[in-house]
Amino acid sequence: MKLNHGIDTVAIPGPSIVPHRVREAMARAMPNIYAGDLLDVSDRVLERLPAIAGTDGHAFVMTSNGHGAWQMAVSNTLEPGDRILVLESGRFAIVWGEYARMAGIEVEVLTGNFTSPVDPAAVADRLERDDGSIRAVFVAHTDTSSSVRNDIPAIRAAIDSVGHDALLMVDCIASMACDPFEMDAWGVDLALAASQKGLMCPPGLGLVWAGDKAIDRFHSLSKERPRVAYVDWERRLEPRAFYDTFAGTPPVAHLHALDVALTMIEEEGGLRAVWHRHQVLADAVRAAVDAWEAPGGLSLNIESAAHRSNAVTTVRTGNIDSQRLTEFCRDELGVTLGIGVAVAPDRSFRIGHMGHLNPAMIFGTLGAIETALTAMSAPFGTSGVAAAAGVLGRESH
Ligand SMILES: Cc1ncc(COP(=O)(O)O)c(C=O)c1O
Repeated sequence: MKLNHGIDTVAIPGPSIVPHRVREAMARAMPNIYAGDLLDVSDRVLERLPAIAGTDGHAFVMTSNGHGAWQMAVSNTLEPGDRILVLESGRFAIVWGEYARMAGIEVEVLTGNFTSPVDPAAVADRLERDDGSIRAVFVAHTDTSSSVRNDIPAIRAAIDSVGHDALLMVDCIASMACDPFEMDAWGVDLALAASQKGLMCPPGLGLVWAGDKAIDRFHSLSKERPRVAYVDWERRLEPRAFYDTFAGTPPVAHLHALDVALTMIEEEGGLRAVWHRHQVLADAVRAAVDAWEAPGGLSLNIESAAHRSNAVTTVRTGNIDSQRLTEFCRDELGVTLGIGVAVAPDRSFRIGHMGHLNPAMIFGTLGAIETALTAMSAPFGTSGVAAAAGVLGRESH
């Protein structure tokens, strides 16, 4: 007998669940875009965004997804003939690097793997041998395919240890407002994110934070280089009118959404409280997967506990067909899990635990997976749900 009657819960690593308050804020008649309330909302968002990334630098907001933010980062800090070093630890930094390649930048990939973080010593080693042509280092803070969380301060220290001048540019699309990130304290020159993960909004906003060194680099680039007008910082840095801040009509509904989402973060107790909640819920997920672990069964993809993301967990499924498992969860139990991307696609899946989540929602996801394992007669050790309850029980008093 079918138990799921069409209610669907998403536990994918973005877009994440959009809170009711955020959705409500978007449902409004379109305002005057030259004066009035919208300008206040925009000011509130732009004033509060730097703190979200831990910077005193400039926050750019664009109507786009994360790929748009990648484009903005590339187009404003690099020019043809430059070389960049892309640090592999999954799939996303590599694809960002492709954006640079299409802009005429020479791209070198520091090969990594999909089960461990970037090795800072390898970064130092490569940069020490550079003749000065590497102008930027690209890395994903959390790579959403592997679910690794890279040690950004260690990568910064590696760059500094050899006195290299490259910009450190970090993709925080999966980690922003989920895992601690301190752009200025960690010496990051440019960070980017998007609205649809930890920031609890629908997809539609690309966010880029630029520190002084990135802005200086922008000003030092040749004015004759091919420029991408929409993402270009010149007008966005010195808008002649409100209109220029967003290079055209502002993303009205999304600005209202982000305004409320930022308020919700404040109401929860600020970023530290939000980071802590993510850490505890992620610990519960990891405890569940560890408890399920069995020969031929599930296991965590990232080997080192210190480098597992608090936003997403990639689970290897051993001999279990991950497609059957995720389809069972979706069709019979009403939970959509993330499919495996790049890491053994038919032998892995991903659990998104980012943004607007509470313990009950995590239990729903874990309970569905455990039910699917049981229904499929798949091997598993002990109850992951019980292990998660143990973690949350310890954290809750
Ligand atoms: C780490 C990371 N970078 C970049 C992207 C691309 O973002 P978007 O799909 O919004 O363009 C994603 C999307 O999941 C991501 O997880």
